[in-house]
Amino acid sequence: MPTIGDLEREYVEKHPTSKKLFERAQNCFASGVTHDARFAKPFPIYAANALGGKKWDVDGNEYVDYVMGHGTLILGYGDERVVNAFHEQIPKAIHMGTSTELEIEWAELIKKLVPVARAGFVRAAACGSEAVSLAIRLSRIYTRRSKIIVQAGSYHGTSAATLLAYHGPPFGLYNTRGITSGVKEDVVIVPSNNLAMVEEQLTKGDVACVLLHCNNLYTKAYVEGLRKLTAKYGAVFIMDEVISGFRYAAGGAQEYYGVIPDLATLGKVPGGGAPIGVICGKREILDFYAFKDEYWNSFIRIASGGTWNAQPLCIVGGIATMKVVLAERDDIYPRLYRIGKRLVKSFNDQAEDLGVAALATGLPLGNPTILDVHLFNRPVPAEKMYLWQAGPATFDDYATKAGFAAGGQARYVTHLAMTNNGVNSFRGTHFFTCVKYLPEDLDTTEAAFGHTLRALKENALVASVT
Ligand SMILES: Cc1ncc(COP(=O)(O)O)c(C=O)c1O
Repeated sequence: MPTIGDLEREYVEKHPTSKKLFERAQNCFASGVTHDARFAKPFPIYAANALGGKKWDVDGNEYVDYVMGHGTLILGYGDERVVNAFHEQIPKAIHMGTSTELEIEWAELIKKLVPVARAGFVRAAACGSEAVSLAIRLSRIYTRRSKIIVQAGSYHGTSAATLLAYHGPPFGLYNTRGITSGVKEDVVIVPSNNLAMVEEQLTKGDVACVLLHCNNLYTKAYVEGLRKLTAKYGAVFIMDEVISGFRYAAGGAQEYYGVIPDLATLGKVPGGGAPIGVICGKREILDFYAFKDEYWNSFIRIASGGTWNAQPLCIVGGIATMKVVLAERDDIYPRLYRIGKRLVKSFNDQAEDLGVAALATGLPLGNPTILDVHLFNRPVPAEKMYLWQAGPATFDDYATKAGFAAGGQARYVTHLAMTNNGVNSFRGTHFFTCVKYLPEDLDTTEAAFGHTLRALKENALVASVT
């Protein structure tokens, strides 16, 4: 049986160049990394190149890749149509700081694909975090209210207000130093799938927006309920589709659930691998960006710049990707769902065969294009495992799930075993899929799941199902 020491030795032996680079990086970055998710022990792998569904590291190791540019690359790495778009643009101009025809083409594609944008407006931003911050501010201007409702555990990027909801399972707020009490006072955190709690807050009449991080485990009824409640109480419903946009379906979670928000934030895919953020939705809200008379311009409109807004190199890859999505949506999404279903089933079947309390969930529920692996360190009643597949519904449920979650050592072994067996996932337990996997890539992934589950069981890092 591989002990943790054996797994570590294999990892170190396979990655001598990555180890050296990590040592060099210590002098450049705190803990040697440029993003929290890239930090890994004993050191992260350093990637050299990628193509299709695969990635190679600086030591020549091959991986089936589920990082996909932080979820960006639904067409996989190096899609010819996307790469050509970048090549063609570079000699023309990277950044001219003027309006371009390209930005109109880019926005028209967003309007064709994303339901809330169809009759609305589009605004470019540098990244998803910025789009979310701007959407929140627009909702405050539009409603003349200040509070925002955020779903517990949701990641919306780096803005202080939304980070409050992300940190601390379930509602104990860790890691919020540096965020002022003024910001905290305006944020209300609610558990997922609990409409009654949302309504209780909305009745107070001071809520500007309800923000839904679309790639968490929500039921369709919850999303529909949020739409109805926000309309009833005059709050702006913002669907954060930075991940789910163009991934759940061509039109994102709003198309998938059949629920149209007031505003949506997008990122990732409409940049085709380059930095991008988008706010789109109702004209009467985005109209606060419009220039009108002097009074409006001075006192009412939201003044906003952004050096990278729709910079040509930030949008040509997105234009190429969205054109493919528009033309091939009937093939792309069934394919993504098939891949996701196969992987979720394989993981859960193998966990069941081994009798271990490990659960793969897929998003969107039933048609996964994103996978999450949950590991538990206390014997879990089978009915709880089942319930959690659809997401915790109450405070108690949320707290119980967090209480059962296996600690860092289990995730560490998962990272080592998956990497040693040729799979690169996001933070070890999170998987973004693309359309380019070959059947043998999925076989490799399933085999890596098996090695990982056995290593977890044999090292007593995952409990059993009772
Ligand atoms: C749902 C969601 N919103 C916002 C963001 C922030 O986007 P960015 O990293 O482009 O700032 C992310 C990042 O992954 C995200 O997942």
